[in-house]
Amino acid sequence: MPESLTTIEEDAWSALHDATTGRDRPYRYLTLASLGRCDFPEARTIVLRSVDRTTRTLEFHTDTRSPKWLELQQNGNATVLGYSDQTRVQLRLRGSVRLAFPGSEQAERAWNTLPSHTRATYTGGPPGDALPDETAVSDTEGLHPVDASGKTSFGVLFFKTLALDWCRLERQNNLRAKFSYDDEGKLESLGWIAP
Ligand SMILES: Cc1cc2nc3c(=O)[nH]c(=O)nc-3n(C[C@H](O)[C@H](O)[C@H](O)COP(=O)(O)O)c2cc1C
Repeated sequence: MPESLTTIEEDAWSALHDATTGRDRPYRYLTLASLGRCDFPEARTIVLRSVDRTTRTLEFHTDTRSPKWLELQQNGNATVLGYSDQTRVQLRLRGSVRLAFPGSEQAERAWNTLPSHTRATYTGGPPGDALPDETAVSDTEGLHPVDASGKTSFGVLFFKTLALDWCRLERQNNLRAKFSYDDEGKLESLGWIAP
């Protein structure tokens, strides 16, 4: 007898929340997929920074010069995908992204929580820019005007979940369920679907 849909849904959000508490947690590294500008879906690994269970919002940090920032500015529709090999559960979340720009209150607040080694990842050239050759990889300072702190390139992505597709592989009995949320993040519908 499978557990109840409400338990499944609550456990999914607990697991997402737990992911923000340690590096080795399942769902710590999620895949964020957006609509690319060249008719290709674009997917990339991204660290889950915080979870607001009430509003069903996930927080991610990124460089505002990256292609994903531009893509999400044009179209905030996005999908977040995660898999736990501990529980064999896939979480596929559909939602819309709001961007908090450098200098905004939310970006400032998040920036103030970052350790210096994380801040340093926002210095240097724009993500995706070509580097001259392999030998230059370890010596890229001076190639681009470097913001000493990286703060002017730091942005926050708030992903508001509209639907959760839950799927668990079991030898005899694969299970899949779908949940949707209203604008406030309240559970609106739930049900089993064919895996
Ligand atoms: C383990 C891992 C964690 C990552 N975490 C982040 C992250 O939190 N934010 C981010 O912008 N990029 C992160 N990246 C880099 C992205 O996957 C991606 O390569 C980069 O952001 C450029 O993406 P874009 O060209 O789609 O904008 C991470 C990469 C790896 C391998």
